[in-house]
Amino acid sequence: MRSRQALMWQTMGDKPHKQEPHMTDQTIRFDDGAAYERFMGVWSQLAGAAFLDWLAPPLGESWLDVGCGNGAFSEMIVQRLAPTAVDGIDPSEAQIAFAQARAGTRMVSFRQGDAMALSYANASFDHALMALVIFFVPVPATGVAEMVRVTRPGGSVSAYAWDIPGGGFPYAHLWDALREQGKTPLLPPQAAVSSREALHGLWAGAGLLDVETTSITVQRTFTDFDDLWATTLMGPIVAPTLAGMSPTQVLAIQDYLRARLPTNAQGQIVYTARANAVKGVVAWLQNQSAGTRKSAE
Ligand SMILES: C[S@@+](CC[C@H](N)C(=O)[O-])C[C@H]1O[C@@H](n2cnc3c(N)ncnc32)[C@H](O)[C@@H]1O
Repeated sequence: MRSRQALMWQTMGDKPHKQEPHMTDQTIRFDDGAAYERFMGVWSQLAGAAFLDWLAPPLGESWLDVGCGNGAFSEMIVQRLAPTAVDGIDPSEAQIAFAQARAGTRMVSFRQGDAMALSYANASFDHALMALVIFFVPVPATGVAEMVRVTRPGGSVSAYAWDIPGGGFPYAHLWDALREQGKTPLLPPQAAVSSREALHGLWAGAGLLDVETTSITVQRTFTDFDDLWATTLMGPIVAPTLAGMSPTQVLAIQDYLRARLPTNAQGQIVYTARANAVKGVVAWLQNQSAGTRKSAE
């Protein structure tokens, strides 16, 4: 059994961090596909499976995965939907590299790109979606309009995102712990769009038809506190903030979490998270307007 102090240094690096709070990186960066896999990819696939059950799309169609990250959800599209084609775009070169190396994504065409300006011609896909991405898009309405543009009439545009306003983010306890230490946790820049109401408004505002929303609850089990803590530090959301804290503050955060996380008789931590999902259908002629067509690169 490692001591609390040893665990802290082991997970934060072998030396106490010297970085001052003002030097911490205050943006959420996705630049490590393998670390993302443990921190969020597992969650993504749990929620993604429930999302696809709800979406219940036809098999054998084409898909655009916007903000595909390290390919966790793209792989699920391949495994479950017998697609004719799958494209994935993401701004992060490192995430794309991890996505391309997945055994289950050989048929997927990945490229760097931005949800705000998709490099595809109008009506290129049967379906477009964002898995855990909408709250990172600088102007979410533009991201939705772009998905509508590249989807054929009658096709679907959909998304799911952690319900941040409703406390559904997988590591929400940690945010509470950081706040108790006087720290402002890093949040996705457009966190407010992940409520069901906001998602519905975005989709309806983009002219999509038959707009529906739902909530998805998922559960993940961590072997013990050490497993949870090490996993937490692999993500891009918490580690930058912890890096600017004193050892005493970090230990206080660990104590806060130990006292509140649901632990079963085996010492496992069973953590629940909730996402909101939205879907709509592209209207005929909606994405045919002249002047918006872009050539596929
Ligand atoms: C939480 S990850 C989700 C990754 C993947 N969809 C999944 O389900 O695991 C969010 C992703 O959004 C990407 N992202 C951030 N801003 C974006 C933008 N403007 N356009 C497209 N993707 C963006 C990030 O690079 C990151 O890979």
